Amino acid sequence: MSFIASRLIHWHHNHGRHHLPWKRNRDPYAIWLSEIMLQQTQVNTVIPYYTRFMQVFPAIASLAQAPLDDVLALWSGLGYYSRARNLHLAAQKIEQNHHGQFPATRTDIQQLPGIGRSTAAAIAVFAFGQREAILDGNVKRIFARFFGISGYPGEMKIQNHLWEKAEESLPIDHSNDAIETYTQALMDLGATVCTRHTPRCESCPLRSQCVAFQEQLTDQLPTAKPRKALPQKETVFLLLLQQQKLLLQKRATSGIWGALWCPPEIATGVDATDYCQHHLGIQVKQQPIELPALDHQFTHFKLRIHPRLLHVVSDSRITEPESIWINPADALEQGIPAPVRKLLKQNFLSDNQTTRI
Ligand code: ADE
Repeated sequence: MSFIASRLIHWHHNHGRHHLPWKRNRDPYAIWLSEIMLQQTQVNTVIPYYTRFMQVFPAIASLAQAPLDDVLALWSGLGYYSRARNLHLAAQKIEQNHHGQFPATRTDIQQLPGIGRSTAAAIAVFAFGQREAILDGNVKRIFARFFGISGYPGEMKIQNHLWEKAEESLPIDHSNDAIETYTQALMDLGATVCTRHTPRCESCPLRSQCVAFQEQLTDQLPTAKPRKALPQKETVFLLLLQQQKLLLQKRATSGIWGALWCPPEIATGVDATDYCQHHLGIQVKQQPIELPALDHQFTHFKLRIHPRLLHVVSDSRITEPESIWINPADALEQGIPAPVRKLLKQNFLSDNQTTRI
């Protein structure tokens, strides 16, 4: 038998959770209900819901015949209500397609609405004693740590690798409820010892061969979900200089940097000289000077700012939006966004060798 299986079966005898209400029998309906309720929900929360549900709907037929509203009312407070809708729908399918008999193999169970491979396997194990591997979130964590499998488990390649390990680790022995004990032990270990945060490795029966424990990687395995790449946007800031003063405009109250002072902003394709002349009524001396781009990150996107320096020949009064010509050092005293502050410091402040004034 695998190291994992023999250690877990032995451990479960003294350290597993033995008094769970759905463990009293092999009724597939009771086991199914408990497995669905236990998805994303802790044992202690589930127990009173499970007990009430079994009192009101003691068998598949009574659930199948009930109005959905009554089912949802009993689920109220447990969350993830699609679980209750699927449960109700699956009960009706069992009545119609399986003559009211709960299907007895993992692959048939998996055809029912709301039942994935791991839940189907758990039911097949607990209700029918079949030799099937489970791989819920807790069990992925155990295997990722024990075998030192890095990579986000939501990725198909990593998930397939973990399923292989789950299959390989199953106990061979059919006697003495080995598969049931082993499966329940995996679940209990994940819930009580091999927890996401501060696992209790000192109490773990697998520790002597656990890669994560040996290499002190428990806080890095399983690998966290990669952060989604944020969209990249580009914009242009016009740094208009007139007698060492810079033009800033007050931005609209809504939108990014609401009501803060910023240089005029144009889209990347727009001609800067043209814009100054026609939109701002400002004549500039020569072609704009491109300054190094500046990156800024918002919650939902990244912004690359391309600053362009322009020396002003003459200015007409700018009234809309509210505008000021201001010394860059004084601008730092105003309400300006962080990237503008950085831009001013990098390009215009006197302790900087590359000052542009
Ligand atoms: N989580 C999912 N199924 C479980 C079970 N049968 N016992 C304890 N926790 C579980």
